Amino acid sequence: MTSAHYPNLRPRRLRAHAFVRALVRETRIAPAQLIQPLFVAEGAQKGAVASMPGIVRLDLAELVAECRALQGLGIAAVALFPVIPPALKNDQGSEALNAEGLVPRAIKAVKSACPELGVVVDIALDPYTSHGHDGVLDAAGYVDNDATVELLRKQALVLARAGADVVAPSDMMDGRVGAIRSVLERDGQKNTVILSYAAKYASAFYGPFRDAVGSAKALRGDKRTYQMDPGNTDEALREVALDLAEGADIVMVKPGLPYLDVIRRVKERFGVPVAAYQVSGEYAMLRAAIDNGWLDERKAILESLTCLRRAGADMILTYFARQAAQWLADAD
Ligand code: PBG
Repeated sequence: MTSAHYPNLRPRRLRAHAFVRALVRETRIAPAQLIQPLFVAEGAQKGAVASMPGIVRLDLAELVAECRALQGLGIAAVALFPVIPPALKNDQGSEALNAEGLVPRAIKAVKSACPELGVVVDIALDPYTSHGHDGVLDAAGYVDNDATVELLRKQALVLARAGADVVAPSDMMDGRVGAIRSVLERDGQKNTVILSYAAKYASAFYGPFRDAVGSAKALRGDKRTYQMDPGNTDEALREVALDLAEGADIVMVKPGLPYLDVIRRVKERFGVPVAAYQVSGEYAMLRAAIDNGWLDERKAILESLTCLRRAGADMILTYFARQAAQWLADAD
């Protein structure tokens, strides 16, 4: 606006020095707002994820060591995702209900080593089903909503009893939040938080995650009969309203950066805690460009997280959580 006519209007004044830029910055990121997704595996399932350079499937001992480091960095929580051996998968995903399974054992190991670190667990059947869908199929191959919800409520109960702080239904079945809330209440698990993947889109950006948990090869068809169409936002508001009415404490929008408008609408409409998930494909894109020398690592990652917060996300699930927390520990 500075011109011969408005000589005193200099917005650049507030950008001239680091101290003043810091004073007027509206949006910040703190480690306490970040959740680190981690892949848990045993034996042959361990090791690097090819489509997510830098991400490793951890066994229980490695998981505990990683969680100690994350807790030391002030990260809020970890979100655990299991890699289930093919021999334990079936069409009902029944390993999801095993109280001695990998996830219950991982929850107990993390909570006993790092009691201050929050533990979030996914409620969905896809790591456990031989067909790779988040629920069970009817005779026509359609994901049967109500039969799936019955299994999800059992899975949530098993994981809450194992000590999970937060259960995060990521399956997009109708009515699952209410079903999970009522079973938790009946069991006396009153403080188990439900973080619902309320507006979860049928996105191509989950590809690397499906490689990581080994559901990509198994998946028959796609998830468009339960995850949302990327063209819609009004529908996201209806999904969020339902999940809140059913008892969700936190609602999530997923993926993150391509869906900033959805985050903004949800935050403005409902004013409730909103999570964003910067998903595996977003990680892979940034990582690939960074590793090619095309983007500055620190600047690109911190900018992407700042933009998710600016759009209205209170918290972010991101594979960059540990790295970002390390940078945030140094002043900028
Ligand atoms: C499974 C689940 C998925 C993700 C989180 N939970 C994959 C899917 O819906 O196919 C994706 C996470 C990511 O891509 O980082 N219900």
